[in-house]
Amino acid sequence: MADPKTRIRELTDILNKHNYRYYVLDEPEVADAEYDALMRELIALEERHPELVAADSPTQRIGSPPAGGFQPYKHLAKMYSLADAFDFTELEEFFDRVERALPGRPVAYVCELKVDGAALSVTYRNGVFERGVTRGDGETGEDITGNIKTIRSVPLKLNAGDPPVVVEIRGEAFLSKDQFARINRERGEMEQPLFANPRNATAGTLRQLDPKITAARELDAIFYAVGYAEGLDLESQSGVLTWLKSAGLKVMEQARRVESGAAAITFIKEWEGKRASLPYEIDGIVIKVDSLGHQAELGYTSKAPRWAIAYKYPAEQQTTRVIDIIVSVGRTGALTPTAVMEPVKIAGSTVSRATLHNEDEIRRKDIRIGDYVVVQKAGDVIPEIVAPIVSRRDGTERQFVMPDKCVVCGSAVVRPEGEAVARCTNIACPAQALMRIGHFASRGAMDIDGLGEVVARELYELGLVKDVSDIYYLNRDDLLRIGHFQDRAAANLERGIEASKTRPLSRLLFGLGIRHVGSHVADVLTRSYSSLDELAAAGEADLTGINEVGPQIADSVAAFFRQEENKRVIERLRAAGVNMTAERVQVEQTLSGKTFVLTGSLVTKTREEAAAAIERLGGRVSSSVSAKTDYVVAGESPGSKLAKAEALGVPVIREAELRALIGE
Ligand code: IVH
Repeated sequence: MADPKTRIRELTDILNKHNYRYYVLDEPEVADAEYDALMRELIALEERHPELVAADSPTQRIGSPPAGGFQPYKHLAKMYSLADAFDFTELEEFFDRVERALPGRPVAYVCELKVDGAALSVTYRNGVFERGVTRGDGETGEDITGNIKTIRSVPLKLNAGDPPVVVEIRGEAFLSKDQFARINRERGEMEQPLFANPRNATAGTLRQLDPKITAARELDAIFYAVGYAEGLDLESQSGVLTWLKSAGLKVMEQARRVESGAAAITFIKEWEGKRASLPYEIDGIVIKVDSLGHQAELGYTSKAPRWAIAYKYPAEQQTTRVIDIIVSVGRTGALTPTAVMEPVKIAGSTVSRATLHNEDEIRRKDIRIGDYVVVQKAGDVIPEIVAPIVSRRDGTERQFVMPDKCVVCGSAVVRPEGEAVARCTNIACPAQALMRIGHFASRGAMDIDGLGEVVARELYELGLVKDVSDIYYLNRDDLLRIGHFQDRAAANLERGIEASKTRPLSRLLFGLGIRHVGSHVADVLTRSYSSLDELAAAGEADLTGINEVGPQIADSVAAFFRQEENKRVIERLRAAGVNMTAERVQVEQTLSGKTFVLTGSLVTKTREEAAAAIERLGGRVSSSVSAKTDYVVAGESPGSKLAKAEALGVPVIREAELRALIGE
């Protein structure tokens, strides 16, 4: 057996290599289980010999929040922005300027995709990752090292035999379309304001103080420039990309060197059609003069290089008119304003509503009732109002005012200092109570067959169900008071209620509607606590110890279980026989090591249910297709993932085959 020092070095190198193959090349060589076993071995050795932990150890990716916030860092060389071109005329002007400045010499260009994320600079000293910094004002950025380390495709050590003494590498941090959609889905579940687009989400994620939260958001990064280097000699932008790639950094594989401006325009046209199939958003194409010698001759303006330009694709936008701004009350009492618009078609579907998130958002964008507005589908899915068209105002537009009384129960609405969300103060607000009951009974939660929105409303209005525990104390006579209910419907609902008593603990937890506890967080919590009582007894400190659980969730969970009213509801649920423990039954791990991607809607279950079934058998569900995906499950109207699977030769199965795999 090797001595611990040698073995730790060996494991660090092996794991970094696998990490690189997985996250940068997307060509893993080992199964997840093997990787996990090596990782466990390294963790155990490092625990016993903390003095031997290497700076590039894969265990060091998730650290603690920086005390006192992010520190300023002055870039060794300025981080420039790019001049934009919005049409081919502007682009031709750029080529003319460049070629006039380099008379008689042929000029080649490099075309790169312009990923829509946030600019990033990473420093390596003697090949070892030292620092990650935001762009800031171009001169000075913020040191976000802890967050950058969580990005698995950023190597902790360069793969260069003779690395430069210092090198500052520039690139873009970004979120894939799938990650972006997932983050917004989870935020929606937790009634947090949604991110308008992947760029905002990326910028917000980079500036998260807690690296645990950043890690859970699964950022990625690609690199396209060397900003500053000591001990590195390169001659062209294409050479820069080749060097970056050989050093182990992720680069844009689609980049292409072209011999003329006309060929660059062909590249732009080609990608305009193909960009929807990319797993991340791009907002244009960056064109750079290839020769670094030419670049030096052309130089910079105060803001941007004269040797590069960003051609921006037109966004999928439309104009329409805001007819009204309505307010709805959510399960936690949050009042959410929504714009009701004259219907317009954007990217193939009709849009007539857009969430405005909160009052500040409306003020910031200055959207008024009656305004003509520009609407777009952010991340291709969620309609978003970009801005009002102020020039089309005629004076009849009205400012939106957040009501100071709840639109449902008339109670006072408050908006606590420093918070963006206004809430109804009445915990007994019918809107909230009703939403809570509906949520509790919904498919992703306790899945009570026969208890839909309409029935929930009637039970509530008849005074039969005031809180979720009352559901379990309904008798046949109560049920027969529901409008159209006869014996059969009543018996059906009774069965549904009875069946819900044995739902897994995570469903109950999600169903209780604790703020910030969506279905994913509920799963995370039930993996750490085996009963509701154990969870209720855990304090904030205990809870924040769990991966993916930050102070906000911990506070909310602890506060929930301290409330007398909630304790009473839980006791009544218990007395009725509702399951409050996590089953720890040994299920044979038949799908161990297999990665699935789900696309389209399934008939016999929700995507969440399918994912849970796969995970119970040891499989993994990923949001994006890659060469390492074992199966893509295609439901009704599958998305772009199906095309990607076919392109990569990943096996595609239908729902029936999935059901066979999960033993149904
Ligand atoms: S080059 C001195 N290349 O676009 C050159 N930028 O609008 C500076 N971006 O701040 C940037 N993809 O955040 C360059 N292939 C690419 C890019 C790219 C995305 C971003 C970058 C920059 C912004 C300018």
